[in-house]
Amino acid sequence: MRKRIGILTYRGEAGFTEPGFLRQLVKEGQRLGAEVFLFGPQDVRYSERRIRGYVPAESGWKSDWYGWPDIVIDRYRYYPTPKHSLYLPFRKQNWFHYANSRFTNKFRVHQVLSQDPSLVRWLPQTLPYTRDNLTLLLKQHRILYLKPTNGTGGRSILRVERLKGGYRLHGRTKQQAKSSEKLYSTTALCKRLEHWMEHEKNGNEQFFLQQGLALDLIPERIVDARLLAQKDGSGQWRLTGMGLRIGPPRSSTSNLHGGGKALPAAVFLAERFGEQEASRIILECKELALKTVACIEEHFGQMIEFGFDLGIDVAGRVWIIEMNPKPGRDIFRQLGQKKRYQQAVRRPLEYALYLLENEDVKRERNKDDIWVIEA
Ligand SMILES: Nc1ncnc2c1ncn2[C@@H]1O[C@H](COP(=O)(O)OP(=O)(O)O)[C@@H](O)[C@H]1O
Ligand SMILES: [Mg+2]
Repeated sequence: MRKRIGILTYRGEAGFTEPGFLRQLVKEGQRLGAEVFLFGPQDVRYSERRIRGYVPAESGWKSDWYGWPDIVIDRYRYYPTPKHSLYLPFRKQNWFHYANSRFTNKFRVHQVLSQDPSLVRWLPQTLPYTRDNLTLLLKQHRILYLKPTNGTGGRSILRVERLKGGYRLHGRTKQQAKSSEKLYSTTALCKRLEHWMEHEKNGNEQFFLQQGLALDLIPERIVDARLLAQKDGSGQWRLTGMGLRIGPPRSSTSNLHGGGKALPAAVFLAERFGEQEASRIILECKELALKTVACIEEHFGQMIEFGFDLGIDVAGRVWIIEMNPKPGRDIFRQLGQKKRYQQAVRRPLEYALYLLENEDVKRERNKDDIWVIEA
């Protein structure tokens, strides 16, 4: 039987937020022989067991009524703003067989990971924002980051650098406007950070402070790594690819959406650290990704993919900056790695089909068991 895969995503008046990727996703699913459609929470008619689904048309999208999906991949990128108010209650209802479990915010992820002694060495020191925590961290680190718990794309992040007799601040607002200023006392700094949070927060979102990492592998630039870990068609975690991102000059973040550019990892790291050290770094990145997903799945249930943002500092030390449960794949396209991009799009679908197949096999086996007993 042809399997039906629903992709849960945000659908607003202006359409879908990542239309290019979603088009590829539906097409890849069709190539795998599945029936795939996109839908938002508002498209579901639970009592009628049907859904208004969307698929790519020649130009734009066409919609139709679909039966209940065999499995749903949750690709909804949620932010705590009014236009996303339907999502959380909808997702909690668990009306579907989801391929990926619900996840949580960055700060909570950090807390969960830091309970595992084998992961602690990769975690930058991270504390909720309070004046006391700010003072404490400023004593230990020359650079701090202030970040919103639900941030994405480098938005609303402020970088604080301790100078002789003051602080330098660099940040990017929700609207991606760059901000830069100097302050001359810790009291002024507290006030500025509190004003920033008040202005930048979505709903009642919290902010946290993080040890700043020395990621200037190129002077005056932030360089970090993006590693994509995905489940494959046999249910195993695989590392689909890795690339580096270099932020624009004087930017506090490297995100591609904030003007960052992609670089191939192995070549750049070998030039910067030498062949041997580069191999060690890449191996460590892979090892930490696999360890981390295992820990996360223990806490949150089965997951489908993560885009890791990893710091590689000037001493070659590797750090987990964050892990994105609904990651983009643009880095592979920017690197000209078309095959890898396609594989990155396809893998979650293959995994969803694997889950269904396995259930079918289990069901068949149970039938046999009953038959054996009855005989
Ligand atoms: N503690 C840190 N030290 C140095 N750079 C950081 C730190 N935290 C974040 N950054 C930079 O900012 C970028 C965005 O931060 P991240 O936590 O990934 O938030 P977002 O969800 O907005 O991408 C990172 O990719 C990195 O370039
Ligand atoms: Mg990030």
